[in-house]
Amino acid sequence: MSTHQTQVVIIGGGPSGLLLSQLLYRKGISSIVLEKHTREHVLGRIRAGVLEHGFVNLMREAGCGERMDREGEIHEGFHIAHQGQLDRIDLAKHTGGETVMVYGQTEVTRDLYDARDAMGGMIIHEAQNVQPHALTETRPHVTWEQNGETKRVECDFIVGADGFHGVSRKSIPAEVLKEYEKVYPFGWLGVLSETPPVAEELIYARHERGFALCSLRSRVLSRYYIQVPLTDRVEDWSDAAFWQELKRRLPQDVAAGLQTGPSIEKSIAPLRSFVAEPMRYGNLFLAGDAAHIVPPTGAKGLNLAASDIHYLYHGFLDHYLNGDSGGLHGYSEKALARVWKAERFSWWMTNLLHRAPEGSETDLRLQRAELDYLFSSEAAQVSLAENYVGLPY
Ligand code: FAD
Ligand code: DHB
Repeated sequence: MSTHQTQVVIIGGGPSGLLLSQLLYRKGISSIVLEKHTREHVLGRIRAGVLEHGFVNLMREAGCGERMDREGEIHEGFHIAHQGQLDRIDLAKHTGGETVMVYGQTEVTRDLYDARDAMGGMIIHEAQNVQPHALTETRPHVTWEQNGETKRVECDFIVGADGFHGVSRKSIPAEVLKEYEKVYPFGWLGVLSETPPVAEELIYARHERGFALCSLRSRVLSRYYIQVPLTDRVEDWSDAAFWQELKRRLPQDVAAGLQTGPSIEKSIAPLRSFVAEPMRYGNLFLAGDAAHIVPPTGAKGLNLAASDIHYLYHGFLDHYLNGDSGGLHGYSEKALARVWKAERFSWWMTNLLHRAPEGSETDLRLQRAELDYLFSSEAAQVSLAENYVGLPY
């Protein structure tokens, strides 16, 4: 069996794992990233599109901000469509000038891979049967299989950044881990198309037929979503049926300006709120989707992964550079405080804009009142805006 040594083993080569590995490298802390899939597979997943300024700053700190700053779009606001009208949330005005960056998760991941490659970073793809061991001992280790051979790496710490279905969270004993979960009775059908976006800014639409979202990746690449029943499959939705349904849920003048085209990606995502506590067990630390999931309304998932990485990164810096382990000890509590606030916001925005299949007339009137209140109260808009741009770290 071949054995490696490193300071931090990172399980999962998604944005959380790659970002941490790159940040640590720049401070002289060694890490190895173990990724189950191929790089092409990881880069093929179309997911997040909206980055908080905290995420943007971390990418810059990691030395990976150049293309993002060149090609990403700064958005100072977004729209909510309801009852045939379009109202704007002015993010910059309500937050003292804060904004968000529209730059796809695929591009973030590509930039992180490029940076890791340029610095000779060790990312092992197609690592099968990854298993963390001896989590409560001072020198834990991780094993995996590759090309029929079992490999092993010894380390000081293991970071579980392996997403919701990963192995890390499952390796924490059941009597230690508490999981909180809410599954929503609908999903999002997403389409990516090489067409100009229907509007300069994002449009979140609440409609009797269900939620819709008009987003974008660039001036020539659009991303649209519609709420669908959980029982629907991607094959049930032709491109023509998707565009027709999307148009029905948008205000008429917006729908009239929508340019349609063939989908280059189409997928259905379920909606879930999930938190696992604590985010640390012995020398294993969970980060990102491995520890928590938010429903996508409000674009918090990837951004929450970034704040975990921020706390963890500073914990490792204090430990390795200053001999102070306080940050690592406090990691779970600190990260969870922000996680629950983002969970609350995502749940609130999901409830505000979706049509519950079993919803009553009363639910609908309450939802309408919430929207009326939002657009008649500056305080309510400030609250939405400060959450959307991202709560402080
Ligand atoms: P992941 O991206 O899931 O990465 C985990 C990695 O670990 C994967 O590469 C996986 O292959 C690997 N892995 C899994 N198991 C193992 C194992 N056993 N061994 C080794 N490796 C393993 N968030 C936002 O902030 N803004 C948005 O606009 C937004 N939009 C979204 C839209 C959709 C449709 C979806 C589905 C999600 C969206 N999100 C958004 C959420 C965001 O994509 C996730 O929160 C983000 O990917 C989390 O990153 P991560 O690195 O923690 O996990
Ligand atoms: C996107 C996804 C979201 O969940 C969201 O709130 C905004 C944008 C997107 O994929 O572009």
